[in-house]
Amino acid sequence: MLFLLFQVAAHNPTGVDLTDGEWDRVLSLFKERKGDLFPVFDSAYQGLAKGLDEDVAIVRKFHKEGMEFIVCNSHSKNFGLYGERVGSCFVACESAEIASNVSSRCQLRIRWNYSVPPLFGARIVSAILGDAKLRAEWEQELAGETRPNQPSEAKNHMPYTSSSDHMPYTSSSDHMPYTSSLELVGAVPTDILVLISHDHDPNLAGAKAGK
Ligand SMILES: Cc1ncc(COP(=O)(O)O)c(C=O)c1O
Repeated sequence: MLFLLFQVAAHNPTGVDLTDGEWDRVLSLFKERKGDLFPVFDSAYQGLAKGLDEDVAIVRKFHKEGMEFIVCNSHSKNFGLYGERVGSCFVACESAEIASNVSSRCQLRIRWNYSVPPLFGARIVSAILGDAKLRAEWEQELAGETRPNQPSEAKNHMPYTSSSDHMPYTSSSDHMPYTSSLELVGAVPTDILVLISHDHDPNLAGAKAGK
């Protein structure tokens, strides 16, 4: 069995996401190669590319089609909780029996690996998602971070290439503008944006409108 890992939205580091048509081909491939290929989804930017629902549409489609898969969610970005290790992992299984077996294997692995996860960040996320008012506020703030079909201020100032010599793709996410070379990061005017380091992703969480 071969496990294939896909980032669902705001691909890091290119910002180049699969189109709906490309995802459909991926889904067909997994259907054809069932028992041979297994999909794993890495969802680290839900709500930061096109929207909370749009960014996980492919995961829901796999689920609707009765596919088995693993999906890993990180809340480092969409809750601004870097360093708190907040996330979740779901395994979609074909039957209750398989789910029960997978669950006990996962619990064993958890016990061997880290035993008890950090709880503080998870409690923050749980408090927000479990309260209608806080959840609506969070959704609103997150929606403010995405501006579909509209180049963000930051993107305007990023030295991303629309058709680079290296890759003929453009970024489909404001939050992960495609940079043709990390060396170009040095060209970002520091009075406009000082939110990217040479060896990591751009972090736009602190960016202010117009800056
Ligand atoms: C695509 C992707 N997946 C996963 C992660 C890891 O997230 P976490 O902070 O929860 O370890 C990152 C972090 O940059 C990421 O970009």
